[in-house]
Amino acid sequence: MQTIIEPFRIKSVEPLRFTTREQREKLLEAAGLNLFLIPAADILIDLLTDSGTSAMSTAQWAAMMRGDESYAGSESFYRMEKVVRDLTGFRHIIPTHQGRAAERILFQVVCRPGHVVPSNTHFDTTRANIESTGARAVDLPNPEAADTQSRLDFKGNMDVAALERLIDEEGAPRIPLIMLTVTNNSGGGQPVSMANIEAVKRVASRHGIPLYLDACRFAENAYFIAMREPGYADWAPKQIAQEMFSLADGCTFSAKKDAFANIGGLLCSNDDRVALQETNLLILTEGFPTYGGLAGRDLEAIAVGLEEILEPDYLHYRIVSTEYLGRHIADAGVPIVEPPGGHAIYIDAARMLPHIPRHQFPGQALAVELYRHAGIRSVEIGSVMFGESAPHELLRLAIPRRVYTQSHIDYVVEAILEINQRRAELRGLEIVEQPTFLRHFSARFRQV
Ligand code: F0G
Repeated sequence: MQTIIEPFRIKSVEPLRFTTREQREKLLEAAGLNLFLIPAADILIDLLTDSGTSAMSTAQWAAMMRGDESYAGSESFYRMEKVVRDLTGFRHIIPTHQGRAAERILFQVVCRPGHVVPSNTHFDTTRANIESTGARAVDLPNPEAADTQSRLDFKGNMDVAALERLIDEEGAPRIPLIMLTVTNNSGGGQPVSMANIEAVKRVASRHGIPLYLDACRFAENAYFIAMREPGYADWAPKQIAQEMFSLADGCTFSAKKDAFANIGGLLCSNDDRVALQETNLLILTEGFPTYGGLAGRDLEAIAVGLEEILEPDYLHYRIVSTEYLGRHIADAGVPIVEPPGGHAIYIDAARMLPHIPRHQFPGQALAVELYRHAGIRSVEIGSVMFGESAPHELLRLAIPRRVYTQSHIDYVVEAILEINQRRAELRGLEIVEQPTFLRHFSARFRQV
């Protein structure tokens, strides 16, 4: 069969809430044209993030009922630990309340002022947690990824030659670990090849530096490897994931992505000394090591989700349905980051709206128009989020897992294509108020 269907049926539904254009105009005005400040109840289709927004399965809900809420030694922890150990092989498995808590604990333990942590591209919380210790976060993406239109199979790869140069310049003792973000979220949701992980691992081993994965979207990355990398076509996604983890010395993980959970994270490593220090910090702010800031039922949801996420039928649908959105808008002339990534489609707003200069935030202008026109929420990843260091002006349409059907996506396609027809009429924005340093959450804008 040619038609790719959602590999689930729907047992419990959440009604969508429609608003009129007039209502949305008022809501936008009240929110200072910042979509983070619009109540979720007034959003029709929410593509702000794929994080924590998954629909859980009947098996996950059933498992939650057996959540063991014991403070110490919870059965749910041991069930979760078994699944994670089977998948990753790591010796120490520490639960946290979400990915950034794992990052904070890891970097507080291993980083000192003057240290440098390279990655293919750090996610913004990862960068912030590194830099809050006085260390420096350095992105070493594959140089060809700078062109949003280049169609490489593994555009998320790290530039291994640049990594070698960095180690030569800084010296290995100043590099506590090397990180690879799979898939590369800030770089367009693009995958990293097994060959690249192996190459980075070889360099890391030669210098005695541990390699960590930011494994948030490990299953999507594994599926891209199965589809695109020679030699892996016959491997199960789980085998590929196991191979990826076997090359690493540890990982941080947000269970809000590729574990279908609404909350949760993990910090894993093979280093007894580091793990002991991490556990001490964990107890200070997250909780006892057998729950780490989560309820026992959350650990159950993660354990089941980590198995479901690797089902080939699910991953096939996931990758193909994200591509469906990307191809339908790109083939009709909307410039996207090519090729489509795993969890999101990124529109190149600077290319789509060349009449809006960067300092007037083309990505934000497009986000506002998409909400005004059709009630769809997306997120700017450009100069609003990163200031002057933004490499591109992108609008991210992140797809929550197992939540929206094809007709929802067709509606999104229609809305984007209608805006594209009259893109010359869109106007830029200026910031009128910026109460916190995290301006994408808090800034208020005005049309210029
Ligand atoms: N690493 C990556 C690659 C991420 O995408 C995220 C979160 C994190 C770490 C932090 O995990 O949210 O559980 O603390 N990304 C979300 C997003 C917020 O919308 O892309 P967290």
